[in-house]
Amino acid sequence: MRVLLIGSGGREHAIALGLAADPSVDFLAAAPGNPGIARVAELHEVTATDPAAVAALAVEVAADLAIVGPEAPLVAGVADAVRAKGIACFGPSAAAARLEGSKAFAKDVMAAAGVPTALSYACTDEAAVRRALDDLGTPYVVKNDGLAAGKGVVVTDDRATAEKHAADCGKVVIEQYLPGPEVSLFVVTDGTTARPLMPAQDFKRLADGDAGPNTGGMGAYAPLDWAPDDLVPQVMREVVEPTLAEMRKRETPFAGLLYVGLALTPDGPKVIEFNARFGDPETQVVLALLDTPLGGLLKAAATGTLAAHPPLRWQEGAAVTVVVASKDYPGTPRTGDVIEGAERPGIIHAGTARRADGALISAGGRVLSVTATGADLAEAREAAYALVDGVRLDGAHYRTDIALGAVEDRIKL
Ligand code: AMP
Ligand code: GLY
Repeated sequence: MRVLLIGSGGREHAIALGLAADPSVDFLAAAPGNPGIARVAELHEVTATDPAAVAALAVEVAADLAIVGPEAPLVAGVADAVRAKGIACFGPSAAAARLEGSKAFAKDVMAAAGVPTALSYACTDEAAVRRALDDLGTPYVVKNDGLAAGKGVVVTDDRATAEKHAADCGKVVIEQYLPGPEVSLFVVTDGTTARPLMPAQDFKRLADGDAGPNTGGMGAYAPLDWAPDDLVPQVMREVVEPTLAEMRKRETPFAGLLYVGLALTPDGPKVIEFNARFGDPETQVVLALLDTPLGGLLKAAATGTLAAHPPLRWQEGAAVTVVVASKDYPGTPRTGDVIEGAERPGIIHAGTARRADGALISAGGRVLSVTATGADLAEAREAAYALVDGVRLDGAHYRTDIALGAVEDRIKL
């Protein structure tokens, strides 16, 4: 089949590698792509958030399947426009992507579906913000209602910081703090049938020891040997099935990738957030361990035939990814620095670009995610950091403790 992949980040590079390894994929195009993706796909220019332009490109490359990686195009209706051309598309409709596009909408769906999540208030004015903060207490959790590239959430004990974030955002959701380790569970669904992938853990904070501000994600690993054995069936039963049923009931079925961000609290797993697409960088580790051909799986979800798809197969062992970020990320990252040692297997490109002279340069905040597998987590971790050591990028920084707590058995439920 002929596949068009939309996006240009590390997640899309990981998806492109999965598609390139699938024998049923005989042509792969990507738009806009990046220099890493260019090694396995034909790149096209497109404004990813322009539904008509993406649909026209899907027709032009005669795609049998389009896959939309990032959230902004989904929220803009790109999947709807592609499907309107009669082309199968992996990714939810704009109406269903509101599960990510509006935190207040997601909370409303969760309440209607009886999904365990943090108590919350949607607020649009200062008085409501103050009441919600008074009621819920510290640590304060203040979330921008709309898309914010992983940087819309402030968790703080400082009242002034919480109020300022709320004022800066306009519409916010203020919610109860959920204690406990976080888990990202990706679920492939055609709207009715749902297949969970392997749970992974993301590191959202900038610095070692979970210090510093939230980012888009600084690293990830899988599997989670410390997680309860029945975690996935429990989340499918208590979260995924009721949410998909509620979306069908609203006549906006959710088909694509439902990303369930969870906190494993003392009262059981509770939803921190939904996303409408694969997570970045968790996808890098989950897909590194998936043996089932990716194109066939996503095609089945896009065509409503997931029930007939064989059970998923996984590699033994573990995977770790470490994000290498540019100087000053997540503020205003410096770009245009030359990167050396990054054109090797396991190095997933995100914010990279090719200069006219052929040099690879940084072009965004999260530049690379260095991914390795191993017989166990400790081996995968060592292999990932050995690869990081070979990358040269002036001013770059990365966390040195990705997967360390799990390797040292320090994660407590
Ligand atoms: P979100 O974009 O909603 O995933 O939030 C980003 C990060 O903020 C999460 O991964 C958590 O680390 C943190 N966070 C969000 N909501 C909560 C909450 N209710 N309790 C504790 N931490 C939270
Ligand atoms: N890694 C978090 C996200 O993709 O939203």
